[in-house]
Amino acid sequence: MEHSTQFSTLSEVEADWLIVGIWENEEFTETVHHLNGKLANALNRLKQAGDITGKANEVVTLLDPQGIVARRLLVIGLGKRDMADRASLNDAASAAARSITAKKHHRLAFALPEGVSEQEWDQVALAIGVGLIQGCYGPGLRKNQQDRFPPDEILLVAPPSAPEEKVRQGAERSRIEGEAVQFARELVNTPPCDLYPETFARRAGDATTGLGIDCEVFDEKWLEAERMGALLGVARGSDKPPRLVVLRYRKGSSGRTLGFVGKGVTFDSGGLSLKTNEQMVDMKCDMAGAAAVLAAVVAVAELRLPVNLLGVLALVENLPSGRAVKLGDVLTTRSSKTIEVLNTDAEGRLILADALTYAVEQKVDNLVDLATLTGACMVALGAEVAGLMGNNEAWCRRVLAAAQRAGERAWQLPMFSLFDEMIKSKVADMRNTGGTRYGGAITAAKLLEQFVGNVPWAHLDIAGPAWAESDSATRDAGGTGCFVRTLVELARGYNGD
Ligand code: BES
Ligand code: MN
Ligand code: ZN
Repeated sequence: MEHSTQFSTLSEVEADWLIVGIWENEEFTETVHHLNGKLANALNRLKQAGDITGKANEVVTLLDPQGIVARRLLVIGLGKRDMADRASLNDAASAAARSITAKKHHRLAFALPEGVSEQEWDQVALAIGVGLIQGCYGPGLRKNQQDRFPPDEILLVAPPSAPEEKVRQGAERSRIEGEAVQFARELVNTPPCDLYPETFARRAGDATTGLGIDCEVFDEKWLEAERMGALLGVARGSDKPPRLVVLRYRKGSSGRTLGFVGKGVTFDSGGLSLKTNEQMVDMKCDMAGAAAVLAAVVAVAELRLPVNLLGVLALVENLPSGRAVKLGDVLTTRSSKTIEVLNTDAEGRLILADALTYAVEQKVDNLVDLATLTGACMVALGAEVAGLMGNNEAWCRRVLAAAQRAGERAWQLPMFSLFDEMIKSKVADMRNTGGTRYGGAITAAKLLEQFVGNVPWAHLDIAGPAWAESDSATRDAGGTGCFVRTLVELARGYNGD
């Protein structure tokens, strides 16, 4: 898919579809008036009749519109102007693209809306460009008969008066970030027969080639030699060997390094603590944290952001077998701390224990981990909000601020020391469950906290937002590519402090 920008009046835009956004409860903006007199009148009549309201993500299509060059017109509702932010613009663009990509088209053009409150042109181009890319792809990776058709070209159109450099920068950023989100979605949607630790590691190598990213893949022998007993314990039940992928990108001038660690359980059956069919059916999504880390590091490198990054992907498959880790087993982590396994389905925290230890040893100055870690987090916050927990208030606030700027939803949960009591074990240094469902997202984070030392660390539990159960107007079912944008935003603001 090609991406371009154009500065012109809308009536001249050559496209199979011209997409124009309108605000709820407002007169049409200049953009619409400049379309063409006749067409604007027609749209006004539709508005009077209540067929066009501008409500968020409302789609109205006009085929063969008179007086403009584009062959079809799509009017997309942007919602209320004073509520507009990166999330709402992203969603509107995605809804528009979703509704017209069931057929093959050469060029989709989106007229960037004017007068978005508190948003600059580059931010508007960024939000809309990313949303358009998201809306072009569905989860049907293995269909013989494709049901979605990304266009050959996406065109962002701004009026000639718009600041050219700003629009171009935003558009270029949107191409890179949009493709990174799509890459993460594709990894999550790939069937687990095709994506397992070795193949995931290979995809990491391919995706990072030529971008100035150093990508090292460590195998089970290395993990053994490096005493990563918790990660190896989880991996033992599967015939597929584990991998640890380490990504390094060093373009920062400050000497500080930001670390990203991702949970990459390519399939989570629960192990001997076997999940039910219903709980297991979407568990190919359990590597969404690792996918987000990989996609974000790629995007940061393509954007050439001046920052030092360390990315760690902990890749295993969690299966039951004659060799699988058992309840009551005690695993010795790389840090020498011991963990009693009381539920083999609480495997994410085990592999992250070793991956976090490794990241800390590599001398990162700040850490973020992403993990589809607990169903309890979904009970607490619902399926679309990530839980954020950490050991340092200032760092947590920075991660939350990055999510806010990126248009992604995260909410902080408390790390009171009373939760430490809940992961105490009689035989080992800790146990891998809290012993009750209550506070399950926090007891999981409490175990992770044991492995980050003094490094300011934030943990994002993305069990909910990583996966969409069903289609909605604004997005497809399946992997969502969540928190790629947040990580890029965090890296953008990181250098120097
Ligand atoms: N991968 C799951 C968490 C999950 C659940 C992700 C639903 C996405 C959707 C994790 O490994 C898990 O099984 N957690 C257990 C922990 C429990 C055994 C302490 C859970 O949440 O039930
Ligand atoms: Mn599990
Ligand atoms: Zn899991």
